[in-house]
Amino acid sequence: LTVAVLFGGRSSEHSISCATARGVLQAIDSNVYHVIPIGITRDGAFTLASANPDDYVLTAGQLPEVDDNGTRIHWPESVSSRELWVSGDGVDRSLGSVDIVFPILHGPFGEDGTIQGMLELCGLPYVGSGVLASSLGMDKHFTKLVLQAAGIAVAPWRTVNRFDWGKRPQAIRAMAEQMTLPVFIKPARAGSSVGVSKVSRWDNFAAAMDVAFAEDDHVLIEGGVVGREVECAVLQGRPGEPTRASVAGEIVITGREFYDFEAKYLDAPGIELVCPAPLTVDELAELQRLSIRAFEAIDGAGLARVDFFLTETGFVLNEINTMPGFTTISMFPRCWQESGLNYSALIDELIQVALA
Ligand code: DAL
Ligand code: MG
Repeated sequence: LTVAVLFGGRSSEHSISCATARGVLQAIDSNVYHVIPIGITRDGAFTLASANPDDYVLTAGQLPEVDDNGTRIHWPESVSSRELWVSGDGVDRSLGSVDIVFPILHGPFGEDGTIQGMLELCGLPYVGSGVLASSLGMDKHFTKLVLQAAGIAVAPWRTVNRFDWGKRPQAIRAMAEQMTLPVFIKPARAGSSVGVSKVSRWDNFAAAMDVAFAEDDHVLIEGGVVGREVECAVLQGRPGEPTRASVAGEIVITGREFYDFEAKYLDAPGIELVCPAPLTVDELAELQRLSIRAFEAIDGAGLARVDFFLTETGFVLNEINTMPGFTTISMFPRCWQESGLNYSALIDELIQVALA
């Protein structure tokens, strides 16, 4: 089977996507799958990239990148063909027929339905959620609206657009001050905590809003939730089989303001990932029920990681990620490892579900 693996991309999570691709390139069974590695530059060029996982190592000193090597991928011209071509490395040549695309992309232009729309237009099957679920999951405002309607508790929030923030910053601050500190300021469509700030004093509010507006035209002011941070990984079943939810993972904050980018990827101290998380049988059952409910409510497909706070009054959803971080040490594969599915088997399952 020929799998086109897409990674990199135009979003601020470019490097995280490369790191995820590294894990997949390392683990995918080369006896079963022929991989076409397609790196998308920050500029949006689709290139035939290196398939060597060592080219995408993520370390504190160096975030991996897709470099523009001058090659260009050409997608099939109509839905009656699945043949990919590459130009720019001397002669145009065929890369053969692709059976499935694995868009390992995080953030806008990757996890938000845009690539999914392009693949739909090309008639190419792909791993993961379709256009609607991807766009819903990407946008924290619309995720909350839909999941609230599905009966799932979410943190209280207000959404502000760039125009209003420019016009009425004082009024917006006064509106925000109705909420209890701390509040979190988040771009509506970003990930990996890029652009996210925890505001514990109103003096820091305006600066935090500006940081978030650097990422998106819409920004959420979200009430801080007191509770344990727990996550659950979801996998779509094969045809006729139910959606599955994993054991829980927990982010334990031992000495840090919150689970920020540095803690997620750069080994910054003050955070521990625990999996499986110590939950009671009833708590785990409820977490799994809510995770599957959320996945189905946005019409998810393939996979997702659903993040919650476990509060005194129950689970409060934080967000749903339709293409969760997937490096070999990330929470999504760890949750499945602890549920009896190792990294290679997980990739296999994702591809087989998408082809079924
Ligand atoms: N957005 C990152 C990759 C995650 O949720 O895992
Ligand atoms: Mg996220």
